[in-house]
Amino acid sequence: MSTGRALPIRKTGRGIHVATPIRVIEEAVKTLTEIGLVGEGRPTGCVIDAGTGDGRIPAVLAAFDPSRAVYGIEANPALYAQAVTNLQTLDGRGLIDVTHLHLLEGDYCDVGTYETHEIALRQIGVIFNYPDGNERRLARFVAAHCERDTMLCLLTHNRTLELDELERLASHDVSDGAGPQWRLSVYSRTSAKPVPRTVSTPS
Ligand SMILES: C[S@@+](CC[C@H](N)C(=O)[O-])C[C@H]1O[C@@H](n2cnc3c(N)ncnc32)[C@H](O)[C@@H]1O
Repeated sequence: MSTGRALPIRKTGRGIHVATPIRVIEEAVKTLTEIGLVGEGRPTGCVIDAGTGDGRIPAVLAAFDPSRAVYGIEANPALYAQAVTNLQTLDGRGLIDVTHLHLLEGDYCDVGTYETHEIALRQIGVIFNYPDGNERRLARFVAAHCERDTMLCLLTHNRTLELDELERLASHDVSDGAGPQWRLSVYSRTSAKPVPRTVSTPS
């Protein structure tokens, strides 16, 4: 799978598709592991990758936390089909185990998308999103339908993104060592902050 560095920005009808470099996703997932949202001791509940693009975030999550249910939701049919192919290819090569990975074609802000696939909105632990202009709509959806402690994790270059409906609990710099710095920010309705397992740099 490409690192994504050279992939173009593409309009998708819902927003834009620009792929996050795999190294950045790995670093972000390591940070989520350090703050206890992924891996051993993580909260119960599934992960939603809201706007999964070509499926690279579910693929990396499967490598770090293979027993966790991960749902990648993508509205664009061509990207959804690409994600299905990518995960099947990685599974076929023995690189990931897709047993707990599910890809859904639909709108991540539509309750019907979750109902159709029997996903209980109140049992979502973490929602992952690369903001493409839809993050405020997603935050309103999380505030209206998810549990107080559901964590919305935004990975973006925007260092100051605030969401009216949710409180920012922590922010961490994420870098692949080459390109510009990314920022992983965690939001929820609760003020209970994720507990770091190792050193973290909230600001
Ligand atoms: C910036 S791209 C990120 C793709 C991928 N998560 C990554 O990091 O490489 C955002 C994706 O979200 C999708 N998207 C935007 N709004 C959506 C919605 N309401 N429901 C489902 N997918 C959506 C877009 O089609 C696009 O593929």
